Amino acid sequence: MKFFIDTANLDEIAEAQALGVLDGVTTNPSLMAKEGITGEENILNHYKKICEIVEGDVSAEVISTDFEGMVKEGEALAALHPQIVVKLPLIADGIKACKYFSDKGIRTNVTLVFSAGQALLAAKAGATYVSPFLGRLDDISTDGLNLIAEIRQIYDNYGFETQILAASIRHTMHVIDCAKIGSDVMTGPLSSITGLLKHPLTDIGLAKFLADYEKGNK
Ligand code: E4P
Repeated sequence: MKFFIDTANLDEIAEAQALGVLDGVTTNPSLMAKEGITGEENILNHYKKICEIVEGDVSAEVISTDFEGMVKEGEALAALHPQIVVKLPLIADGIKACKYFSDKGIRTNVTLVFSAGQALLAAKAGATYVSPFLGRLDDISTDGLNLIAEIRQIYDNYGFETQILAASIRHTMHVIDCAKIGSDVMTGPLSSITGLLKHPLTDIGLAKFLADYEKGNK
């Protein structure tokens, strides 16, 4: 499973990259705003900075909601850097734009996916990635993991190459459950990646090994 980090924070991206397990980055307009990145030029420069830190795919989301606007914006984003993946919302014009980019060989991430039917449409339009938001479904007492499993089954039934990018990950158990289901990618906060390191028996075991070494090497 690929690990993406869901942030526009350059320090967090660098920390995850330094760990050696990072495969890419996802951003969205809210995450860019959280970092205080505003204005077209600053936003485009920020995407370039992210691409310089990470080796993998970097999803950059369009703001337009009409086909022509999405195509114009998406083409400008894709031209920024070879690692950029154009992120499109799952609305009718987003699906049309996805097909357009897919035909041109430009990679896409179809976002704001909350149902298996939406994921099926994205795959038929040739999306590179589809982003089901599992945390936001859990937030409204709906089983987000079940959606990931449904999409996995549908994509496997027909051999769709669209990769399932489990998004809106909240914690480490989401990561582990998505891996068990067979999600191709997960994107979450830095804590959902570093949290996987933690086990008290590891800490206790290491302390004992080091103490025993000290005893024997006095
Ligand atoms: C997906 O790419 C989105 O950026 C993201 O995962 C949304 O997560 P949130 O529900 O934590 O905002």
